[in-house]
Amino acid sequence: MSELNSIVLKILSNGKGILAADESTATMTKRLDSVNVQSTPENRLSFRQTLFSSSSMSSCIGGVILYDETIKQKIPDGKNIPELIQSANSIPGIKVDTGAKILANSPNEKITEGLDGLRDRLKEYYKLGARFTKWRGVYNITKDYPSKLSIHSNAHALARYSALVQECNMVPIVEPEVLMDGNHSAQDCLTKTSEVIKKCFEELILHKVDLTGVILKPNMILAGAESSNKISGSEVAKMTIECLKSSVPTEVPGIAFLSGGQTEIEATENLNLINIENKTEFIMSYSYGRALQQSALKYWSKDIKDIEGTQKVFNHRAKMNSLAAQGKWSKDLED
Ligand code: G3H
Repeated sequence: MSELNSIVLKILSNGKGILAADESTATMTKRLDSVNVQSTPENRLSFRQTLFSSSSMSSCIGGVILYDETIKQKIPDGKNIPELIQSANSIPGIKVDTGAKILANSPNEKITEGLDGLRDRLKEYYKLGARFTKWRGVYNITKDYPSKLSIHSNAHALARYSALVQECNMVPIVEPEVLMDGNHSAQDCLTKTSEVIKKCFEELILHKVDLTGVILKPNMILAGAESSNKISGSEVAKMTIECLKSSVPTEVPGIAFLSGGQTEIEATENLNLINIENKTEFIMSYSYGRALQQSALKYWSKDIKDIEGTQKVFNHRAKMNSLAAQGKWSKDLED
């Protein structure tokens, strides 16, 4: 087993998943504004430190994706954040793209940037303790989109990023997120997501990326958020597996879904159904941001000194998702 493959397995085996806590300062400010907490470096650190020192970290969270600010922050006892995460036997990771910008010649679409200077930034993050990374490409569905141009250019960037990350002995999370905004059908989501993922792997193979040392972070197959033709959880599970079976090479060890705007319960329930349905060799787990943090953030915002209470809320969500990653969740456990 290669070193990269063993990192993937350590992050995703036994019902463990990923806590995506890599919101940029702008995004974290929006999240904190929504619960009336001032977005200062101290408050951002305090919420994240509360989560990272929760008891569920060692049983449910195999890896944490950090943002540049957080990976360099220290907690009051002098430990830095990667050390805090490692002390829970979890692996620190880092978001390395610099965001999605307007795609030239297709102004309604986005291309993710961040390749310039990436090799040097990766070396720095490795020294700080990161052993995996994230890069998110973003696509929207309409009659005309995603265009071939966006599918091709984002796949190319994801492949160049992945090759550089593996050169630095870290595992790349490849995240092609097809957004749920819009009124498209689940069938459209299936067709477009499959096309996007296939192109990503075509480019990854061209760039000689070791697929056994990669984590795919896809969206689930859902009808658009504004569609009136929503599908059931078991249809979500069937269509998501159909998509992944047809577009992901079997060498890939692990898939960790994003939650993408689903509610906490939807994200857990759908993951559970996917695992009940899953007959493939892929580990199917979670790399959730909002679906792991929403309730905890709301609770914390009422009294940011109530660390124990906040951790209880977070521990519950982490436990529910860990059960879902093993197909062992049921709704009555939520009460
Ligand atoms: O890139 C997206 C995040 O890492 C996952 O966030 O679960 O809130 O969609 P989400």
